[in-house]
Amino acid sequence: MTQDFNTRTAVARARRRIRMLRRRWLRRFAARRAVRALRTVQVMLLLAVLLVRKAHGADATNSMPESALMPKAAAGYRLFDHNCAHCHGDDARGDEGPDLHDLRKSDEKLQRIIKGGIKGEMPAFGKKFKDADVEALIAFLRTLK
Ligand code: HEC
Repeated sequence: MTQDFNTRTAVARARRRIRMLRRRWLRRFAARRAVRALRTVQVMLLLAVLLVRKAHGADATNSMPESALMPKAAAGYRLFDHNCAHCHGDDARGDEGPDLHDLRKSDEKLQRIIKGGIKGEMPAFGKKFKDADVEALIAFLRTLK
């Protein structure tokens, strides 16, 4: 009888304990879910802020003329590499032709030199290149500081 009673109280106690543990686990689980939800919101906010900043940054750079020159200069570098580097050096530091860094000449003057060449020194590229090509080359030369 007492044995039976003890067993029953033990079982009841165990059940209570299980219920308590389950409640505690549920609370903790709920807390963890809340934390995770908050984190998701945080990440989304951060992404939103970054996107807005990026959009603003893009606007800001779009209004600067330099950003338009960069792809031009890159195209100019390819032209230089194929047509000028064997005389002016791969790094344009000069070889048979002079160093092309820090040129003091105006765009118009450079255009004339590239299109018309220099008699007995440098070939004329006026027939080979379109105006856009010459502009790209000059944009590249302007990056040589
Ligand atoms: C056959 C060799 C040769 C090639 C190819 C060549 N150049 Fe030249 N370039 C020269 C020489 C030599 C001079 C210097 C002439 C002088 O000072 O009388 C020169 C001068 C110049 C100058 C004037 C530099 C200064 O300080 O006044 C520019 C700019 C120039 N070259 C750009 C180019 C570009 C751009 C290309 C390619 C499209 C090119 N050159 C291809 C040989 C070459």
